[in-house]
Amino acid sequence: LHSLSPIQMAKKYFQIYPEERDPIWMNPCDDKRHYNIWSPNKSCYQFPRFLIVGPQKTGSTALYTFLQLHPSLLTNVPSNRTFEEIQFFNGPNYHKGIDWYMQFFPLSNLADKFNMTTSTISNITPTVNNANNGTMMVHNQRNYFSRTPPIYAEESMHYFEKSSTYFDGEQVPMRVHSLLPHARIVIILINPTLRAYSWYQHMRVHNLSVALDFSFYEVVSLNIPDKHLIDKGTMKRLRDLRNRCLNPGMYAIHIERWLSFFPSQQITIIDGEELRHNPISVMDRLQTFLKLEPHIDYHQKIRFDHHKGFFCSINPSTNNTKCLGKSKGRQYPKIDRLSGKYLHRYFWHHNLALSKLLNRLRISLPNWLVTELSRL
Ligand code: A3P
Repeated sequence: LHSLSPIQMAKKYFQIYPEERDPIWMNPCDDKRHYNIWSPNKSCYQFPRFLIVGPQKTGSTALYTFLQLHPSLLTNVPSNRTFEEIQFFNGPNYHKGIDWYMQFFPLSNLADKFNMTTSTISNITPTVNNANNGTMMVHNQRNYFSRTPPIYAEESMHYFEKSSTYFDGEQVPMRVHSLLPHARIVIILINPTLRAYSWYQHMRVHNLSVALDFSFYEVVSLNIPDKHLIDKGTMKRLRDLRNRCLNPGMYAIHIERWLSFFPSQQITIIDGEELRHNPISVMDRLQTFLKLEPHIDYHQKIRFDHHKGFFCSINPSTNNTKCLGKSKGRQYPKIDRLSGKYLHRYFWHHNLALSKLLNRLRISLPNWLVTELSRL
């Protein structure tokens, strides 16, 4: 019998089981053994109760901003690298662990916003009593948890986050479900052709060379004169840009992946066109879906700004509007006919699959989808 130091033992273990190197974080609040040995300075309220998962360029920042105006909601502190998006569940941040994620949801901010002390909040033990509707209730769980929770309920205090790269991340639904099985998932969809074009324009503004050197049609179709003269590196960058334009728009594939981990009752799909033109009714339905208390009237919070051409937040002290920056709601030429035709064909089967999926979920089809499917 050989014995090794813990580090050597771990190395040996992962040599034998390399597939287990990838961690899967679970929620300490869902398991009494974990919860009981968890630091008393941490709180289950430091996990978001819902996630806006994108995809990019659908109006996710506008939705995020409108939700921040709700008195019961608080969002993560910004990241140095990725600003308002934490981007934990996709990419390398996931390996930084739960404590890294939780630092974006500090207890002190909750305490400030909701006029409590941090120790009061960390003493609350939210337990999920109905896995299907994700409602969290606070109970006196003396028999279950050794940390004594208070007796009152605190329903109107939620963190949320928005990372629009989550939508199409292959591992994201599995990872989110492991850590936040009761979270609600908010998805926004616009016509995938316009989403692709908006992304291309976004990359042009960020001076991505292939977006500046090639037309939108060339990027999405890869139909380029003298293509054989393009060097390998440029070709790779072109393909990457094409993928980022097109892949998130295969909506049905990604939504099916979310549905294989989350019940449909925990997922809501917002029509991004409606969010843009009639956000007040979107916010109304979203509050009902998220069971937010109090249910507020967004007429008091947002208003159409003629200068910006979009809905913007109302500053309560001045009654002026505060709009998103110039990177959201950009001015650029309309999509050209050739690209529009190419992408209409390209997304046809994906849009058809989306319509079947939405019918199955008894969600009415957005106008843009009906239009796309009725066009030959
Ligand atoms: P464009 O800049 O291409 O017009 P995201 O925040 O997910 O990146 O989405 C950006 C898009 O949100 C913008 O794309 C814009 O069309 C859309 N949008 C919807 N409502 C908006 C609002 N109230 N203010 C600014 N942009 C909004």
